[in-house]
Amino acid sequence: MCLTIPGKVIEIKDQNALLKTSSGVRQINIGLISRVKVGDWLLASIDLAVKKIKAKDAEEILELLSGKKITDTNNVSFKFREILKNAQIGDLTKEEIIYLLKTEGQEKEVLFSEADAVCKENLKDFICLHAIVEFSNYCANNCFYCGLRSENKTVVRYRMSISEIVKVANEAVNKIGYKMIVLQSGADMQYTDEMLVEIIKKIKAKSRCFIFMSVGERSVQCYKKMKKAGANGVLFRFETSNPKLYNILHPKNTLKGGLQNRLALLREIKKMGYYISSGPIIGLPGQTLEDLADDILMMKKLSVGMASMGPFIPCDGTPLAGESHGDVELSLKTIAASRLLIPKARIPVTTALETLDPQNARKRGLQSGANSLMFNLTPAKYRSKYKIYPNKFHGRDKDLEDFALYKGKESWEMLTREFKKYI
Ligand code: 5AD
Repeated sequence: MCLTIPGKVIEIKDQNALLKTSSGVRQINIGLISRVKVGDWLLASIDLAVKKIKAKDAEEILELLSGKKITDTNNVSFKFREILKNAQIGDLTKEEIIYLLKTEGQEKEVLFSEADAVCKENLKDFICLHAIVEFSNYCANNCFYCGLRSENKTVVRYRMSISEIVKVANEAVNKIGYKMIVLQSGADMQYTDEMLVEIIKKIKAKSRCFIFMSVGERSVQCYKKMKKAGANGVLFRFETSNPKLYNILHPKNTLKGGLQNRLALLREIKKMGYYISSGPIIGLPGQTLEDLADDILMMKKLSVGMASMGPFIPCDGTPLAGESHGDVELSLKTIAASRLLIPKARIPVTTALETLDPQNARKRGLQSGANSLMFNLTPAKYRSKYKIYPNKFHGRDKDLEDFALYKGKESWEMLTREFKKYI
């Protein structure tokens, strides 16, 4: 479901009103709402008012979603200005991206503000709420960073049954109003292709939603079958675009084909007509800014629909337990630079970023170029067991769910417009 920045009614003419939001003034139809007057706060889809809300609630959403446009660019370098200009034509070199990732002080703030403006310009005032259901924490792989790696014997493993998964997803759609459902698990072959197909079909039979599968390296055939069953998107990170680092972090006995294999599979999946979400982990031990710049360029090259990236968080029971976590500021700069280079992508504030800074990450991410959120709908009894990393943030905001435009069919129509290629 979508959440939008509220606007204030500044003029009314019959069934139409002029709505002023932080990104400008636009005309909307107010036919669905009774007794609208000048000064009221409205939530609207692109051109239709969907809900009237209290000024206090409007302030709360504004505080969360609308960044401040920084116009004071006195203390920024000529080079920085040139880079922002190049970004406007959607083109940045690796060196320019590295410059952005190194920005500090005023330049960093201007980078965030610029990314926010590019986001609003391309995606209007909407942010999308995705529901993620982590249905199994069994994993055949042994990735060095991940708490679910098969050699981590301290993990209490669980699998949700097909009916449990379907029930959670259907409730997320039909009771709460989500329209984007992410089904995630470790690399767990106990779920056969046919089982995954059954899950997708059963959810689609009862719920009007988009389904994103996040089940790792499965066969091309499996991805084809899931697509035919109704899956729309795939969440599958390449983790790092540096092949050497990839090989160090993913021991050969599991992910045999290395980075090339993963990228080839991602391309194959894209060709099948899936919406692709992919990206790196930020701040992996041994990762350089050059690598991160390559990661951003890789997301662009793959033409990801969603650029999904989050900071590394060391996890006990893994070989990287003693390493430092990824940097929050660097994560925000990576989001902002990605926004400049891939203006129309969805960029979520990932759970890992919220875990490192539970108080501010959501707001800062949404004001630095990100435009969507992942809410965890894994049933409470399993949640703590899906420990990719420790102290995982489990924010799910009832207020945001309430404010979202899920009741209007407009929300669905908007998404359908965005996703028409992937249905
Ligand atoms: N820190 C941050 N992200 C992690 N992931 C796995 N382990 C970690 C960690 N320790 C990410 C990977 C994976 C996604 C499901 O979670 O990018 O693809």
